[in-house]
Amino acid sequence: VTQDRPAARRPVEEAVVFAVGSINVDVEMQLGSPSGTTVQLARRSLVSSGGKAANVATLARRWGAPAELAGCVGRDELAGLAVRGPERAGVEVSGVVSSPDHPTAVSTIWLEESGDKRIGLATGANDHWPEGSAERIEGVVGALAEGSIVVVDLEADSAVVAAAVHAASRRGLTVVVDPSPPARLDDELLASATHLVPDDREAAVVAGRDVRIAEDALDAAEHLRERGATYVHVKLADGGAVLAGPDGRWHLVAPRVEPVDATGAGDAYAAAVAWCLRDGGDAVAAATAGVAAATCAVGVFGSHEVVPTVDDLRRTMGRVRVESMPEEPHRG
Ligand SMILES: Nc1ncnc2c1ncn2[C@@H]1O[C@H](COP(=O)(O)OP(=O)(O)OP(=O)(O)O)[C@@H](O)[C@H]1O
Ligand SMILES: [Mg+2]
Repeated sequence: VTQDRPAARRPVEEAVVFAVGSINVDVEMQLGSPSGTTVQLARRSLVSSGGKAANVATLARRWGAPAELAGCVGRDELAGLAVRGPERAGVEVSGVVSSPDHPTAVSTIWLEESGDKRIGLATGANDHWPEGSAERIEGVVGALAEGSIVVVDLEADSAVVAAAVHAASRRGLTVVVDPSPPARLDDELLASATHLVPDDREAAVVAGRDVRIAEDALDAAEHLRERGATYVHVKLADGGAVLAGPDGRWHLVAPRVEPVDATGAGDAYAAAVAWCLRDGGDAVAAATAGVAAATCAVGVFGSHEVVPTVDDLRRTMGRVRVESMPEEPHRG
């Protein structure tokens, strides 16, 4: 006798990009000429959602990946603004918690006419998740669909970040680590990274050596691989990147663009790596996507509001040049 009752139906388990880390309100100004007084007029300004994890989740979602965001905001007026960007993009934000006694993080960004940039970051709630958050995030990561990509930055409560990374590693999920700020990268996190994505300065700090040219970056990347990271991408100041992994070493050369504002370009790199890996891409494809996304991002003002479309991204990926690098990195 067959039963009338429909079989218990579970929703199709879909792999996601799961971003854990900072959520901020960004206040960004492009300043005009110095006035000789303490007030400097801005040519344009933008107040928007920002923060590394928020940027990563938003971009991955805009490019078509299901994305979830875990972070901590305050119980204040700015919280809504901080989460609005990801929410509008269709990111799952139910994993965003709030701190009872710390405000929503704010990042103030001044872009000088000279191209110099100053950022003041008040980390607020990002560093003060409510009690029990580490245990909670372990559970959430434990329940992610197979094939999900976990992306972390270090601008958040280190116990929560460590718990997310350990839970992901235990399951064999791919972990992307943006080691920013680099001082917070410990040996365990480093060794748990499937993809470590420092920029040149961060790679220099973490590896303890100068990074000026692609060969230096490769040297630093190999050193970080010896310490346990599987793939290391070093983002170069000219927009390119060096990638080192168990299957080779590559230099990715970015197409030339007129840089407007690099704010959020590093986050775009991490987002594209996660987006590509979730889609089944390999490490070289992921780095190509990363370089393309950063290239698109430096061409626009702000970190978040205007993003390259998936077509822009794919088109730009076609303009990234991938070169193999020699076995023996130069030393010295
Ligand atoms: N002229 C350029 N053309 C293309 N890409 C560029 C250019 N200049 C910088 N980039 C890229 O922009 C990205 C900047 O990343 P980085 O992590 O250093 O930024 P950041 O200042 O830390 O900001 P974020 O908060 O996004 O991390 C890198 O991927 C770098 O290669
Ligand atoms: Mg960065």
